[in-house]
Amino acid sequence: MRRSLTGIKPTGDVHVGNWLGAIEPAKQLTSSFESFYFIADYHAMTSVRDADQLRASSREVAATWLALGLDPEKTVIWRQSAVPEVQELAWILACQASTGVLERGHAVKAAKDGNQEVSIGTWFYPILMAADILLFDTDVVPVGQDQKQHIEVTRELARKVNHQFGEGTLVVPEPLIQENVATIPGLDGRKMSKSYGNTIPLWLPPKKLRKLVMKIVTDSRGVDDIKDPDSDNIFNLYKLLATPEQVADLRERYLKPGMGYGHAKQELFEVLDGLLSEPRDRYNAWLQDPDGLEDVLSQGANKARVAANATMSRVRERVGLI
Ligand code: ADP
Ligand code: TRP
Repeated sequence: MRRSLTGIKPTGDVHVGNWLGAIEPAKQLTSSFESFYFIADYHAMTSVRDADQLRASSREVAATWLALGLDPEKTVIWRQSAVPEVQELAWILACQASTGVLERGHAVKAAKDGNQEVSIGTWFYPILMAADILLFDTDVVPVGQDQKQHIEVTRELARKVNHQFGEGTLVVPEPLIQENVATIPGLDGRKMSKSYGNTIPLWLPPKKLRKLVMKIVTDSRGVDDIKDPDSDNIFNLYKLLATPEQVADLRERYLKPGMGYGHAKQELFEVLDGLLSEPRDRYNAWLQDPDGLEDVLSQGANKARVAANATMSRVRERVGLI
């Protein structure tokens, strides 16, 4: 069976962009791919400097996946740092990578633009990400559009290693970016992202969720003005969540007088809350059961390690480490 793999950094609240752009597309692959999901805690260390926060966020990402319906019996879910072989592969890849690859990394660009000091970990980020993917002989990587460049770097590195050490040393993966959810808009219409502070976190209690939905930025058209659904942030989220009938109905109301953006926001909130209320209960239950969560993660790590060791034996042999 072909293999899919994706990771999420435990750097803060998981949001609607992560859900629709990465988690749902990855979930849809579980019937046709052997599916691997990990919590990218090593990656989070480029920005999280508090041990308790890193631990808590890692559990939250795990609880999110389970709450949204990933079945740990049918998939492999683990913490990146529980399979440290990834660091060994990262080193082997680093020895093949030119520094030009790193200059292009967007984490580095973002840190430079913000005039922040750029850690070596931030520079190294794309190499470690390539190792995440290549360590598991991954065929496809479901991600949002923002990760495309990282997958490109991964493919380049895999090809370079194969050229140097023999075809078949590493599997060259494909990105899987679903067009309609490639870039989910945030409250202000820019890409929803923790770094822009414009996210809708998934697990807010309903009252807070509603309050946040009410903050979505719109143009200033009033109740009796005709509105353009396709350029409106509320509609663009709604169409990804509601049924086709609901979407057609709301579209119609945008195109005639009598509906204010406040109504549309209320409807978006109701659909969102309807979809999230059962998962929210499951999420909270998982957070109340840290031992159960750790069990799932350690069983996942055991399975992941078996796959990692198979790749590493081959790679070590090819590069001359044994
Ligand atoms: P953030 O940008 O908020 O820090 P992450 O980088 O942790 O989010 O993203 C985790 C996953 O979610 C990645 O696969 C990423 O492509 C996807 N993702 C994040 N934000 C969006 C978005 N606005 N639209 C689509 N996918 C997204
Ligand atoms: N860089 C990804 C992000 O910011 C997280 C990530 C780390 C990842 N390693 C990965 C995603 C491997 C897919 C595959 O969202």
